[in-house]
Amino acid sequence: MNTQWKIEHRNKNRYMTDKIYMKYHIASMHNEKTVSLQSPNGEQVVDPLDLSKYTYIQLPELEDVDTGEDKDIYKVLRERRSTRKFDPNKKMTFQEFTKFILFSVGKACINEFNFPYRTYPSGGAKYPVEINIITQRVEGLKDFHVYRFSGYTNRLYDMEIDVDKKELKDATCASKYDYAEYMDCNIFIFLSTAFERSTCKYGLLGYRLTLLEAGHIGQNLSLVAESMDIGNLPLGGFYEAKINKLLGLKKFGETTLYYYLIGGKL
Ligand SMILES: Cc1cc2nc3c(=O)[nH]c(=O)nc-3n(C[C@H](O)[C@H](O)[C@H](O)COP(=O)(O)O)c2cc1C
Repeated sequence: MNTQWKIEHRNKNRYMTDKIYMKYHIASMHNEKTVSLQSPNGEQVVDPLDLSKYTYIQLPELEDVDTGEDKDIYKVLRERRSTRKFDPNKKMTFQEFTKFILFSVGKACINEFNFPYRTYPSGGAKYPVEINIITQRVEGLKDFHVYRFSGYTNRLYDMEIDVDKKELKDATCASKYDYAEYMDCNIFIFLSTAFERSTCKYGLLGYRLTLLEAGHIGQNLSLVAESMDIGNLPLGGFYEAKINKLLGLKKFGETTLYYYLIGGKL
């Protein structure tokens, strides 16, 4: 019996949920009354996470990263496909890693109030989505260790957590289809959030805005990877509670939204 939601057996061989998502969807619609939540007077500021107790690697500014001979955007859009087998021998240089991360999610510019904007858009520039990274065979980084990238500063923080590869595989639903090749990728990316970082300004709509932002980030991850001729796979299939535990998200009050794999194409 599924305890999370009620499943109604409507027709033979056809299962439907009781549409609780519609209740949320309707409740989170903005109207003339709730839209006032967006006024600057109603805004509560949420500061970036305090990661000062962690050591970090400073990544460069975006304009200092060599773009090389990458494919143009039209070729990238034609050729992007989900990758389901990654090259187990692919080693990623730190330069490749840096370029991939900075163009996908890095700080792009500073606005007139000295506030950093990123390579992806964010509702109200609240940037509620956090970037958690686990790597293997990436030059200069520890294998199966949790890092967190800050788009405020382009810093890669060492979160002081080692992760067991088998536990990570077991938290990926795809493992039940025996897609062991998934685990041969070089970068595992987990987008996480504490929804309050957006709902503090937008109320229930903030939930939607946060998911939309994760989608924007996902598209950047796919397109930047493809432009560098690197494989990528978006994953909605993961056990959220298990991943949250592996990444140590409880201390930040966060949960995982989206999971991405990046690595060598075969
Ligand atoms: C939100 C989202 C979740 C996805 N989850 C999974 C997944 O859990 N497992 C998987 O193998 N592919 C997953 N995919 C990849 C899709 O299966 C893939 O995008 C689709 O088959 C179209 O193929 P293409 O990406 O090569 O164009 C996901 C894609 C999206 C956008």
